[in-house]
Amino acid sequence: MMSDPSQPSIQASTVIRNIGQLVTVAQQPITGASGPLQVIPHAALAVHRGLIVWIGPDDDAEPMFQHTTAASKDGITIVDAQEAVITPGLVDSHTHLLFAGDRAEEFHLRHAGVSYGELLAQGRGILTTMNATRSANTETLMELARARLDSMHTHGTTTVEVKTGYGLDTITEETCLRIINNLNALGESGINKLGRTRVVPTFLGAHTIPPEYWEQRRAYVDLIVEEMLPSFVGLARFCDVFCEREAFTLEESRRILTQAKELDYQLKIHADQLSPSGGARLAAELGAVSADHLDFASDIDLDAMREAGVVATLLPGVSYTLRSPYPSARRFIDRGLHVALATDCNPGTSYCENMQMMMGLAMSSMGMTVEEALMAATINGARALALQDDIGSIEVGKRCELTLWSINDYHEIGYHFGVNLVQSVLVKW
Ligand code: NIG
Ligand code: FE
Repeated sequence: MMSDPSQPSIQASTVIRNIGQLVTVAQQPITGASGPLQVIPHAALAVHRGLIVWIGPDDDAEPMFQHTTAASKDGITIVDAQEAVITPGLVDSHTHLLFAGDRAEEFHLRHAGVSYGELLAQGRGILTTMNATRSANTETLMELARARLDSMHTHGTTTVEVKTGYGLDTITEETCLRIINNLNALGESGINKLGRTRVVPTFLGAHTIPPEYWEQRRAYVDLIVEEMLPSFVGLARFCDVFCEREAFTLEESRRILTQAKELDYQLKIHADQLSPSGGARLAAELGAVSADHLDFASDIDLDAMREAGVVATLLPGVSYTLRSPYPSARRFIDRGLHVALATDCNPGTSYCENMQMMMGLAMSSMGMTVEEALMAATINGARALALQDDIGSIEVGKRCELTLWSINDYHEIGYHFGVNLVQSVLVKW
């Protein structure tokens, strides 16, 4: 709700003035605004203790804050947004950004006709990255991840989910989870200059079967269920599984995710990406927070997901990289699902840190409107991380995590493409 300007005073530590357009993506309609985004032209926003305490027209900000007590007024920092467009901070809810090495060679081999599935079956693909990651030391892995987070920050992302899945043994998976957790603590010492990037850790030990278990795949699933999941409680918020012909069967996925649920992990699933795997149905059955990819999910399974409140995460960078057909976002949105967009940042199927690119592809190739793409990259990304009560929209009571755009109007997003339209992010913790 927009605040009442006649109220005498609100305690604020920071007031952002002179915002060209405040695109709130509010969940509740604001009086006088229309459309799903609630755009306030020439706006201001006040923050206290990391929370948004007031939003409204800039003209109302002056009387609002001149009544604050002298002490608190003295403490107020005024930020001049210089007419920037401000949206909620972008949320990238699906990434595999912790890896060593690269797979540029495979990118070009695929252009010569070798498929992603063929490469994986040959022991390349994820396993190439697994070898590079196992061989890298902790400092190198940390530095690589930090550089990618920095790039995400430069492109406007304030919250990032990061999966393990290139260790595939207990020691390396644990090392990777500890690095991901440490990335959160690095904020003030240099990931970014303006604020911290929130990092949400996901355990993806079930990314593929490592070669040492090829002759006894059940033993690898046992290892995940009996050793890794119990010992990683507290290190990962989510457990994810790559449910796919080339990775884990529906039954194996069910076993892993059921155990994870019993241990209080929240669930995600790579579902129906390369073939109809049944993953979307499993996500609905187990109450996963999100099911991701979904290229081959059936209408019935999508309906089951909607009924169970599972967010559908679409990853257009994969279609771009693998040159596979883009799933139609309309199919999901028109069925009433919450759709999130994410980069899937990984060395195989989408080496990209830029959520703006994902929004652009979703508009040009998946049938999303700019408003839907913005919602998918903010509030629905937050939903895909079960953080929608804290972040993802600009509303009183939510955390102050904002993206400032050097554009005149949010309609320029996706239209002016291939360049960085983000000026900075502003995060108050
Ligand atoms: O989301 N599908 C499985 N995992 C990743 C790809 C990982 C890789 O190829 O290294 C994905 O597309
Ligand atoms: Fe992925």
